[in-house]
Amino acid sequence: MKKIRLYGNWKMNMTRGETLAFFAEFEKSAKPLAAVVGKALEVAVFPPFTALWAAGEAIRAMEGPAPLLGAQNVHFEPKGAFTGEVSIPMVEECGATHVIIGHSERRHIFGESDGLIAQKTKACLAAGLTPVLCYGETLEERESGRAFEVMGRQLCSALEPLSADELGRIVYAYEPVWAIGTGKSATADEAQEVCAWSKELIAGLAKGGVDAAVLYGGSVKGANAKELLSMEAIDGALVGGASLKAESFLEIYTAYAEA
Ligand code: 13P
Repeated sequence: MKKIRLYGNWKMNMTRGETLAFFAEFEKSAKPLAAVVGKALEVAVFPPFTALWAAGEAIRAMEGPAPLLGAQNVHFEPKGAFTGEVSIPMVEECGATHVIIGHSERRHIFGESDGLIAQKTKACLAAGLTPVLCYGETLEERESGRAFEVMGRQLCSALEPLSADELGRIVYAYEPVWAIGTGKSATADEAQEVCAWSKELIAGLAKGGVDAAVLYGGSVKGANAKELLSMEAIDGALVGGASLKAESFLEIYTAYAEA
């Protein structure tokens, strides 16, 4: 069975108290998965900045299987006059090893450009962090037949400056904007098509030899996990809503593995 990455993007949810409650529940729910966490299953959670330190402490205190920790965003400069921003050393201090870059909510609500996303990706790689690079088309882009053109631009602008080694250190996340938070996931075939295409594009940029991990994100839950995660080109899920409770989050893996 392939290795599955199960990543939970909490977005602007979870206070410190709710975060501690999540990890208390996680300790119980993850016990039956002790043999696979860190091996066949790589779990990571991405709390908001205000809960990142508490999450890191809770993870360090865990006796059983623990998730990896990531941040939802960073600035590309290590410090300076950037009001409201958070740096890579700041999230590293909390224990983060992963950072979500280029989420569609950052692109569309906060106007992040391809250029900014490329700078953030490079800064994370330079610091030894794993960028979780998100890309995906809107409904309008899909319906007008421009999905692959848009995703090609999103991916190439961030990836072209990178070496093959760097391309292999990124986790890629295909998230169609129309499937995020809508309850309407892409079909397994639609997700497979894009993930397989992405792998070819990445291998082309790396001139072969890169075994890129590509996740699917958009309304993933226990009920559709088996169908999506069984697809050959899909290496895991980036989960929003269903990741806020440890039980519904981990159920995504068990629904796949027990099938
Ligand atoms: P939902 O799982 O809530 O659709 O969110 C997906 C997402 O945007 C994860 O980054």
